Amino acid sequence: MAMYDKGRPYVIREEPGLKTYCSCGLTEEAPYCDGSHNGKHTGKRPYLVKFEQEQTASICGCGRSANLPFCDGSHKQE
Ligand code: FES
Repeated sequence: MAMYDKGRPYVIREEPGLKTYCSCGLTEEAPYCDGSHNGKHTGKRPYLVKFEQEQTASICGCGRSANLPFCDGSHKQE
C-alpha cells in the first residue's frame, strides 16, 4: 500500500527526536521515509520533524492535507 492510499491518518506515539516522514508517497515503510525518493528520482525530500517530547502524531495518509506531513482533517471531505 502506498503512503497516501491509506485515506486516513497514521496515528503514532513518537519518542523525542528527529523523524523523517515520506513526502513522495513511494515509501515501503509508511509514514517514514525509506529513501525511495532517491532511487526513483522524484525530486522530493522527506519532511523533517523534531519532537522535543514524547507525543502522539497524526501523519497524513491521504495526501490532501494543507499542513503536510500532518493530518488536517481533509481526508473527511468528499
Ligand atoms: S489523512 Fe490526509 S488530511 Fe487526514
